[in-house]
Amino acid sequence: DPKTMQIGIDKLGFDTTPLYLDLNDLAKARDVDPNKYLIGIGQAKQAVIPPTQDIVTMGASAAEQILTETDREHLSTVIVATESGIDNSKAAAIYIKHLLKLNDYVRTIEMKEACYAGTAAIQFARGLISLHPDEKVLVITADIARYGLNTSGEVTQGGGAVAMMISANPHVLAIEDPSVSYSQDIMDFWRPLYATDALVDGKYSTNVYIDFFKATLERYQQKTNRKLEDFTALVFHLPFTKMGKKALEAVLQDRDDDTAARLRANLTHSQKLNREVGNLYTGSLYLSLISLLVNTDLTAGQRIGLFSYGSGAEGEFYAGILQPDYQKYVAGDTIKTLLHKRSKVTVAEYERLFNQQLGFTKADTKLDVAADSSKYVLVGIKDQQRIYK
Ligand code: HMG
Repeated sequence: DPKTMQIGIDKLGFDTTPLYLDLNDLAKARDVDPNKYLIGIGQAKQAVIPPTQDIVTMGASAAEQILTETDREHLSTVIVATESGIDNSKAAAIYIKHLLKLNDYVRTIEMKEACYAGTAAIQFARGLISLHPDEKVLVITADIARYGLNTSGEVTQGGGAVAMMISANPHVLAIEDPSVSYSQDIMDFWRPLYATDALVDGKYSTNVYIDFFKATLERYQQKTNRKLEDFTALVFHLPFTKMGKKALEAVLQDRDDDTAARLRANLTHSQKLNREVGNLYTGSLYLSLISLLVNTDLTAGQRIGLFSYGSGAEGEFYAGILQPDYQKYVAGDTIKTLLHKRSKVTVAEYERLFNQQLGFTKADTKLDVAADSSKYVLVGIKDQQRIYK
């Protein structure tokens, strides 16, 4: 019965690049007090994107962490949610499907609404699975956040991909109804087709984010009669980790009871991984969920609330129930090792790589793939086609 069948996140994987920038170094280079970045913004490191990495390579690596033979047999659809597309026409999901050698009887599409599209993809997947309970849907959220050198958004850059298997009887999080979506035509952040870096009204965007969180949570509470007490944790889209604190405090309003203490403590756990990689746009909320799950020891049956936000703007609040042994289905050790093994680059090297990112060149190009230890790499451009290995 689709009304009682549990559907949700069955597994979670994550990938980012092998390089990072220490934000202490960036602060020094930009002549800013490091505490502005470390405390005021709440970021410690930022993923640096070599030209050999993009949403396809990171998306494929994240998906490979969680993909089993059984998944391959039951997979009906691959959805890539992104705002860092590599083509205005062809879906990144097709490239990823090819790299992962998935069978050809798979639907492959791309979805877009700023950082929100991953949540839209999950809801779309739930609908598909309620019609076809034996099937699985692979949702990949992959992005590269770029604002430009020497901009106020620079400290909130980053990049990476989260892969989620969505299925019936999920092992990690059974998604509940209702969810509350909310959208308005707002110019807080956008990227015209000719631009490689985002345009943003930074302060305004943080205010809209909080307004949308309050609007969706309030409506959710009216619909369900649930209170903050009913949640073990709230996880947020984290463009920078301070944003989660701002949003949580906007609804806690100086409360200092047990519930407030628990939500604050779990927020800290949910920020840890995001502090190390920066904004992943579509993947940030789900990296924050991973961060919560690998840094705590929660109990099956507990409820987690999720706030998804995408500029432009769209918000959604929904909740899920943790499943027994969920830890086994989150690639926690792999993720911690992956972050631990990254190499630090200097500010000069970061700037060089930033300017070298290959997006949109027409010229035939061969990249130095030997310098990149990732399993999947962009080899170059030939005849205006991206060549992956
Ligand atoms: P800014 O003007 O550089 O920073 O922009 P600021 O002057 O507002 O300072 C930031 C914080 O640091 C402040 O704290 C300062 O007090 C504090 P707050 O008042 O915010 O709590 N501070 C210090 N703290 C400790 N020691 C010090 C110190 N100095 C200052 N010495 C801004 C910051 C986030 C606006 C900028 O980086 C930006 O524009 N970023 C990009 C936009 C963004 O991330 N917006 C978030 C909401 S919109 C969203 O989430 C969607 C998005 O992901 C895109 C999508 O949907 O696709 C962005």
